[in-house]
Amino acid sequence: MKKTLAAVTCALLAAGLVITGCNKDKKGEPAEKTEVKKMVLRYAENQAQDYPTTQAAYKFAELVEEKTDGRIHIDVYHGGQLGDEKAVIEQLQFGAIDFTRVSISPLAEFDKSLNVLQLPYLYKDAAQMWRVLEGDIGENFLKGVEKAGLIGLSWFDAGARNFYNSKKPVTKLDDLKGLKIRVQESQLMMGMVKALGASATPMAYGEVYSGLQTGVIDGAENNWPSYDSVSHYEVAKYFVLDEHTRVPEMQMVSKITWDKISPEDQKIIKECAIESAKIERELWAAKEGASEAKVKAAGSVITSLEPGEKEKFQAAMAPLYTEFGKGYEDLIKQIQSK
Ligand code: GCU
Repeated sequence: MKKTLAAVTCALLAAGLVITGCNKDKKGEPAEKTEVKKMVLRYAENQAQDYPTTQAAYKFAELVEEKTDGRIHIDVYHGGQLGDEKAVIEQLQFGAIDFTRVSISPLAEFDKSLNVLQLPYLYKDAAQMWRVLEGDIGENFLKGVEKAGLIGLSWFDAGARNFYNSKKPVTKLDDLKGLKIRVQESQLMMGMVKALGASATPMAYGEVYSGLQTGVIDGAENNWPSYDSVSHYEVAKYFVLDEHTRVPEMQMVSKITWDKISPEDQKIIKECAIESAKIERELWAAKEGASEAKVKAAGSVITSLEPGEKEKFQAAMAPLYTEFGKGYEDLIKQIQSK
């Protein structure tokens, strides 16, 4: 009987899924707990399995498992299996999901200051964005999400975003007028599309393909790899290289989960997150070129803006700096001078 009890004591602790190994002494009583303690955690990713961010998530999980000697095991759920980005962020706040990588557009609804980092035409190029993210400014924004119950770990690349639609080639600002454009679930992105004279429809990423196919929307905007990966190029072949914004992505962990992890393992997780972010940036660079070549070969019509049009886009979006940059004027200047 005692033996049975001892065996039962070696239970799976449901909360946090902590598995604790037990020894039995000679009489069959549970003795001191051993070091065999394993946390099984969940990581949500809304991109496909072969996408750079997902591949980096697998690498992150592998590094964490290896460096914690198996104390922390992370299962990665790709393709939005755990919900869209907004729902996933909420679940991180409750501790129901442990890790994720999200675009900071929906995340800015939980920490408004993040709108600053994705204002249209904020950075001259990718190099400038990385100088900002990898310096004190980027580190402060990672820390800033703690007030929303989240711990920012590292930055992932998501290139520049461009408009595409199913109706016509776009080469000037006026061409966008009246088009129904899907935007991320973000006030800033809604404001941006309205400022350009188009109509904005917020929608989760996973619904955009059918929205385009059925004509609920005429277009959307995204980077090359997304346009390719979720096959938007099949249903919206006019793509304009306007590069209106760069929206970085954040890898993060629930604060509830974080507080259950020892300082030693927290340090390991942070290091692995930085390591996986480096890997993501390499994979990203390769994927951008491959996706561009693939959609061109598949018949996408790629246009550039006519001379003087980029300036018109910029002028149209200037009011967003006043609205979403309010209170951050000095920070914006600092970013622009990096
Ligand atoms: C990018 C980004 C996704 C995001 C998507 C969107 O693809 O990587 O995380 O969901 O844009 O437009 O919603």
